[in-house]
Amino acid sequence: MQGLIKGNMDKKNIENQINELRNLLNRCNYEYYVKNSPIISDYEFDIKLKQLEKLEKENPEFFDPNSPTQRVGSDENQEFKQVYHKYSMLSLANTYSESEIRDFDSRVRKLLPLGEQFEYVCELKFDGTSISLTYENGLLIRALTRGDGQKGDDVTNNVRTIKSVPLKLYGNDFPKDFEIRGEILMPHSSFEKLNKERAEIGEPPLANCRNAAAGALKTQNSAVAAKRGLDCYLYYLLMDSLPSDSHFENMKIARSWGFKVSENTVKAKNIEEIINFINYWDKERYNLPYDIDGIVIKVDKISLRDTLGYTAKTPRWAIAYKFKAEEAAVKLLSIDYQVGRTGIITPVANLEPAHLAGSIVKRATLHNEDIIKGLDLHENDTVYIEKGGEIIPKITRVDLSKRVEGSKPIEYITKCPVCGTLLVRNEGEAGRYCPNYLGCKPQITGKIIHFVTRKAMNINCGEATIELLYNNKLIQNYADLYELKSDDVKKLERFGQKSAENLISSINDSKTVPFERVLYALGIRFVGEGAAKTLASTFLYIDALIAASKEQLSEAQDIGEIIADSLYTWFRKRENIEIINRLRRYGLQFEMVKTEDLNSSLSDKLQGQSFIVTGSFVTPQRREELEKMVKEFGGKLQTSVNSKTDFVVAGQKPGASKIKKAEQLGKKIISEEEFLKMLE
Ligand code: IVH
Repeated sequence: MQGLIKGNMDKKNIENQINELRNLLNRCNYEYYVKNSPIISDYEFDIKLKQLEKLEKENPEFFDPNSPTQRVGSDENQEFKQVYHKYSMLSLANTYSESEIRDFDSRVRKLLPLGEQFEYVCELKFDGTSISLTYENGLLIRALTRGDGQKGDDVTNNVRTIKSVPLKLYGNDFPKDFEIRGEILMPHSSFEKLNKERAEIGEPPLANCRNAAAGALKTQNSAVAAKRGLDCYLYYLLMDSLPSDSHFENMKIARSWGFKVSENTVKAKNIEEIINFINYWDKERYNLPYDIDGIVIKVDKISLRDTLGYTAKTPRWAIAYKFKAEEAAVKLLSIDYQVGRTGIITPVANLEPAHLAGSIVKRATLHNEDIIKGLDLHENDTVYIEKGGEIIPKITRVDLSKRVEGSKPIEYITKCPVCGTLLVRNEGEAGRYCPNYLGCKPQITGKIIHFVTRKAMNINCGEATIELLYNNKLIQNYADLYELKSDDVKKLERFGQKSAENLISSINDSKTVPFERVLYALGIRFVGEGAAKTLASTFLYIDALIAASKEQLSEAQDIGEIIADSLYTWFRKRENIEIINRLRRYGLQFEMVKTEDLNSSLSDKLQGQSFIVTGSFVTPQRREELEKMVKEFGGKLQTSVNSKTDFVVAGQKPGASKIKKAEQLGKKIISEEEFLKMLE
């Protein structure tokens, strides 16, 4: 009896600890992502999050889908089910002209009883993808896209990963259930990062932040959505009885519950104040960290909404003023061709300087050969440039009326602008590249620069230092870094004894960098951070990767033919293997798990059999446990079903494509219980 009471007390204690950590981390997320004022360091946050993860793993009975630990998403592919909106999701009437805004104001005044006092609310029109969130008892229970306005896709799992969306509300004066609508955005910084990553793996860039946000929201894998750096602003509260008769007040109240509500919303008494707001934001929008495409004007008093009414698709109490996309027509002066570390050629247009969106523009990205062809760009053309999310604008079209007679179409270069080697274009790729990876300077230094970056080997040295070391013939490739002597380095300009020693010690420190980052650091074409991670955890050590066939490589999750091809070719080159062998000798990490650990399976009951675990189990941790058991009992864990699969352990809602493939190949699909029986 005593024991039972003590056990219960311990559990109560643990539950309290878990709740305290959850509350603290929720608050940290709110202060950081909603209010932009962090209250603890990233390091402290990570420590607390790890503590909570550990406690939740050890005590699965306290699992909560709204715990801050759940914001990382899941690797399991999801299908979005369609759900009806409780209140249909309307759109807004649009206008591009000031006079139509004046018409809107007159219409509103005509529809309202004479002398009715009212104000407008002016808001930013966020350029993302709309979302409707449902909360019950203070907890996020559903997130739906607009869909056709009547029913949308259930994207709750992805929305849970957006840090500015509260999973649990503040205080206790929120209604028992309500909906709140807003916009999911991709801030410029996340957009640039994403396009950089896409370029690294040979994917074409996404056109704008709106498309990128919509795409991220619909990714099947919520762990991927979690990495997209999305944000969410809310602007519309819906429930049968609202807290206030003022929309402005309601949004202020929603802010106090933890929602991100824009600070840039204002009240306007008359049309002049509205026009001032429009003009102010038409210029100021370029200083925002995300895109807006206009201004929304709403009648503030909720009780007037019914009087004003609705058309079939839009309310009569609101209107959107859309900004004209700012573009400039400029003369194309020339095209530079830059050579990247993997030999990829990136064309950049030099333009006649012009004012655009608050800054002077002299250059525009052209991305690749196909984009130049698609624009049908000719020498001396006048082109239109527009700013999307990126700092450097893009060319949207050519002004054909200004084409100089007899001007020639741009002829893409056929030789490397640096080393003169004939460029190569592989089938299925959008650009050409220089194959002279051993002798083309920007490729050599570019690879070393990539090798030392923070996300790769994290060696404390910048581009200028690499150039200096290379120009002084101290390094020819990244393996040479590990042969550097401080006596040689200190003789270089800008270096002294201390800075030379610091560099050498930072190089030595990099020897403990884990395998997945070493693999990324090697700079193999198309092998970005994500691919390196998957490859490392699938193949576990470098020799397995080197020995793998193209088919085996492409069987790993998310490794397509292009990446598999690139890896296979890279490992077939003698000089690359020599570099790997040298790095191995210097003590870099080339395996994921120590060989002793690999051999230390609990039993060999599952020896020679390959498994896949799919679907959800009682807790997300349970799935990890099952996967661990496969390895501990000597089995092989796979990430996709193929001819080598022996068993598919399926939980609830298993991946549909995995089950289909398993059925096609006649593989055994078993439950968790059946799997556990195999271990008895
Ligand atoms: S109110 C019934 N407010 O614009 C009216 N919409 O073109 C509901 N949008 O579908 C919308 N910022 O996705 C509203 N401050 C804002 C907005 C906004 C962006 C989007 C929203 C809507 C679309 C209409």
